[in-house]
Parts: sequence; structure tokens; C-alpha cells
Amino acid sequence: MDDKKIIAVVGATGAQGGGLCRAILKDAGGGYRVRALTRRSGSDKAKELKELGAEVVEIDIDDAESLKRAFRGAHGAFCVTFFWDHFSPEKELAEAKNMADAAKHAGVRHVIWSTLEDTRKWVPLGDNRMPTLMKKYKVPHFDAKGEANGLFSDRGLPTTFLLTSFYWENLIHFGMGPKRGEDGNLYITLPMGDKKLPGIASEDIGKCAYAIFKKGGEFIGKTVGIAGGHLTGSQMAAALTRALGEEVRYNAVSPEVYRGFGFPGAEDLGNMFQFKRDFESAFCGARSLVFSRALNPSMKTFEAWLDENRDRIPVEKDARRASGE
Ligand SMILES: NC(=O)c1ccc[n+]([C@@H]2O[C@H](COP(=O)([O-])OP(=O)(O)OC[C@H]3O[C@@H](n4cnc5c(N)ncnc54)[C@H](OP(=O)(O)O)[C@@H]3O)[C@@H](O)[C@H]2O)c1
Repeated sequence: MDDKKIIAVVGATGAQGGGLCRAILKDAGGGYRVRALTRRSGSDKAKELKELGAEVVEIDIDDAESLKRAFRGAHGAFCVTFFWDHFSPEKELAEAKNMADAAKHAGVRHVIWSTLEDTRKWVPLGDNRMPTLMKKYKVPHFDAKGEANGLFSDRGLPTTFLLTSFYWENLIHFGMGPKRGEDGNLYITLPMGDKKLPGIASEDIGKCAYAIFKKGGEFIGKTVGIAGGHLTGSQMAAALTRALGEEVRYNAVSPEVYRGFGFPGAEDLGNMFQFKRDFESAFCGARSLVFSRALNPSMKTFEAWLDENRDRIPVEKDARRASGE
């Protein structure tokens, strides 16, 4: 056994944790080892991490004992929850508590908690500019993460609170890519008005997290926000136009319209975008591009991300062109 420090990574087969695992595994001389935590060690993604040199350990974040075992002997723990798997802020809070308890139990020296703002600090429940959801949240998948910050700090855990940004991969996997309107043109639809949306290549989150671990104590007890770009809807549409070779227009709907789209999570996301729109300066300010790039010099811009991913963005064929109209 070498004397490398172990980083236990929750969500190791996913976007954030996967990026962290790959960042550590690529840096053979960096002094860290990966303990990749997954529910299924036999999955292709888990096997891939093992082949790259990770120790793979089975856990379930709903099973506190499994986390305690998995964090044992670890120097660091990367903690993240999976709201979109269950849509429950209460479950997210319980899962964060399990991770905080396990980190305390194992005496982990550095925790990175992947969090987001508790928007109720800006928009109290009594503020009717956006509806209250699930009785006590404004943006459930943000608020529960922000509320869970206290679970780490109250236990005296040496924690860095990592504020992430909108993944540009949402244009590929989350149905947020350009859609063809009835007029045959391509549109991206966001309720952001002319305000800027901080975004990031999801792989960069893990690279930033690794840089934070490598800085030792510098960011313990601190909140660190990261983004690869702050772009308006028009700027995103212009970059997509260049990347896809077909005009993409920005469809700036109101948050009310967005909340009414009816897909699962539409109200939560409508409120989220409204929060980002109405508090642009605080939200972008918490995610400095200069700081992010200093932490991770290879941080991708939206244009660089598009260069690599343009072919993965699903774009419906233009029926007018297909039929020769
Ligand atoms: N989409 C965005 O723009 C965005 C932006 C900022 C923050 N976020 C937040 O990011 C979080 C999700 O992180 P992610 O995108 O890295 O997740 P992800 O890519 O969906 O990956 C989740 C991984 O976690 C594992 N997992 C799921 N449930 C588990 C459980 N009960 N116990 C243990 N492992 C479990 C799964 O691995 P196995 O199947 O191998 O166990 C899966 O590969 C969400 O809470 C979301 O709110 C998203």
C-alpha cells in the first residue's frame, strides 16, 4: 500500500463524481487515490474506473452504514446528491445527513459538498414573485442543498461548499437543446430575459474539485463557486448557430410560461431560472470566471464545449428542407 491520500467519491459513475475520479486518476504523481463509490460495481462505468486504477466500493447513500464503511480511512470525501432521480428535497436532506454523519464518523480531513444556493434567503416563502413549491421551497433542488450546508458545518466537518453551475450537457441529456418551432426555425427556450446564465462543462466540476482537494486547507470552511462561462440566451443561441451551422434563435419566455410547460420538474426549473434572472449579479458574482480558471486552467468555455459536443446535441431535421420546400 502506498501513502497516497484516498479520496472517496460519491456519484463516481456520474457527471460530477466521474470527472473528479478521472482528474485524480490522470494525475498519477499527484499523491491521491480514488475510492469510487457506486451502487453497482459490475456496471460498465464502474469497471471502466477500476481499469483506470480506482478502488471500487459499493454503497447506497440511503444506507448510512455503507457510507461509514466506504469513508473509513479516506482523507477526503466528495459528497453529492441526486435530486433528479427522486425529485424529493427531504430525501436529499436525509442523504446529505448520511454523508455528513459518515464523514464525521470516519474523521475525514476534507469534505467537498456539492451544493447550491438556498434561494429562500433571497425569496422568502411569503414572497409571491414565484410560487412556493412542495409547501416549503422556492427552488426545491437548490433549497435542500443549501439547507444541507448546515449538516456539514454543524458537525464541525472541514468542508468546502462547492457551488456548481448549469451543465451545458443539459442541451444533450435534459431536453434543453434547440427545438424546431412551428415555423421550422430552431429555438432554445429559457426564461432568462437578457440576463446571464453561468454554465459549465460538467467534467470541469470534478477537475475543480480535485484542485480544491490539492490546495489542502485553503478552501476549508469556504464557499467556492465555479463556472466556465456566463452567457445570455442570445449569446448561447449565437454560439449554437456557429457550432451547428444553422441559425438558432433565443426564445425568451417568461418564468410563468416555463413553469407551465408541464414536464416533470418544470415548476422547479422555472423558479430556478427566475432566481438566476432576478439575482443575476449575486448568482454570477458567486461564480467568478477568473477564479474558476485559476483553479482549473483547462476550464472550457461554451464555445470550446460546443466544438467537442456539437454532434451529440440532438437536432430535429428541418422538414421544409427535407421535403424541398
Ligand atoms: N444538471 C445540471 O445542470 C446540474 C447543475 C448543478 C447541479 N446539479 C445537481 O447535480 C446532482 C447530480 O449529480 P450528477 O449530475 O453528477 O449525477 P449523475 O450524473 O446523474 O450521476 C449520479 C450517479 O450517482 C449514482 N447514484 C444514484 N443514486 C445513488 C444512490 N442512492 N446511492 C449511491 N449512488 C447513487 C449513480 O451511480 P450508480 O448507478 O453507479 O450507483 C449515478 O451514476 C443533482 O442533485 C443536481 O441537482 C445538476
